[in-house]
Amino acid sequence: MSYTILKKVQAAPNEYDIWVKAPQIASHAKAGQFVIVMADENSERIPLTIADTDKKEAIRVIYQVVGTSTEKLAQLNVGDALSNCAGPLGQPSEIPEGKQTLVIGGGVGIAAILTIIKTLKEKGNHVTTILGSRDREHLILENEIREIADETLIYTDDGSAGKKGLVTDGMNALFEAGKRFDAAWAVGPTIMMKFCSLVAKEHDLLIWTSLNPIMIDGTGMCGGCRVKVKDTIKYACVDGPEFDGRYVDWDILMNRQKQYSKEETESEHVCKLGGIHPSQSKEGGLQ
Ligand code: NAD
Ligand code: FES
Repeated sequence: MSYTILKKVQAAPNEYDIWVKAPQIASHAKAGQFVIVMADENSERIPLTIADTDKKEAIRVIYQVVGTSTEKLAQLNVGDALSNCAGPLGQPSEIPEGKQTLVIGGGVGIAAILTIIKTLKEKGNHVTTILGSRDREHLILENEIREIADETLIYTDDGSAGKKGLVTDGMNALFEAGKRFDAAWAVGPTIMMKFCSLVAKEHDLLIWTSLNPIMIDGTGMCGGCRVKVKDTIKYACVDGPEFDGRYVDWDILMNRQKQYSKEETESEHVCKLGGIHPSQSKEGGLQ
């Protein structure tokens, strides 16, 4: 199978939006699932959420360049092929019908909420979205999401687009205005998902968060992506990646992510996990 790049657009500084030929994945993928791609046969495995599909020929992924392997991916252009693209992986999002929903995306995590919003709308849900980014340049998919969602609020760290503030300021503003929701999603940096979950917990709101621990095989075999949810060990690649953020042990997740920081990649932790390449630590988390 040749996973040819059919379209490539720079979405933001250091972020690329590509469509890849992958008929088997495009025809089966559901909201919330992901693929693991390899730019070439020597590069590491990069887990990326499927941002969209045409349902028959091609899938869309949006990624941030954070190390050697994503840099190799960024060097591929239209007409070039990925060495591998495995998926769809993980459990699909649990989509309700006819409910009031809130969907929050932060930074490149906005890519992961596009199919969730589309599928929620297909099932007759009312969708309010909050998009957050550090500035206007990093705000991706704003127009596409505005067209689908019923209501879209924008927050940037520097106030260059929408209101100045974090996505959690948007959540608090909605609750203060008396809005109530049946289910929510939050996808973005781990710290963002943790704080969104704390706000949701205060309001007794189910909040699905897409966890991004380091993933290696993506099939439940290596244990690299283990997370603690409701005092039980789960594997994000096969049991998730979405879990109710109110019950996620965020401190364990963040500590494990730190464990694989640059300084530690040459340490024994790396060897114990079965030969993670030094750059895998930065790139092994789901985008
Ligand atoms: P970023 O650091 O620019 O943050 C984006 C937004 O998140 C901010 O503008 C803010 O609104 C919100 N945020 C950040 N810290 C917050 C806090 N303490 N409280 C409340 N809100 C906060 O984002 P980025 O650099 O584009 O994101 C990259 C990260 O997102 C990577 O770590 C990547 O792994 C992760 N990611 C995860 C998934 C997933 O499926 N879980 C998908 C894509 C990206
Ligand atoms: Fe190996 Fe999940 S990535 S168990």
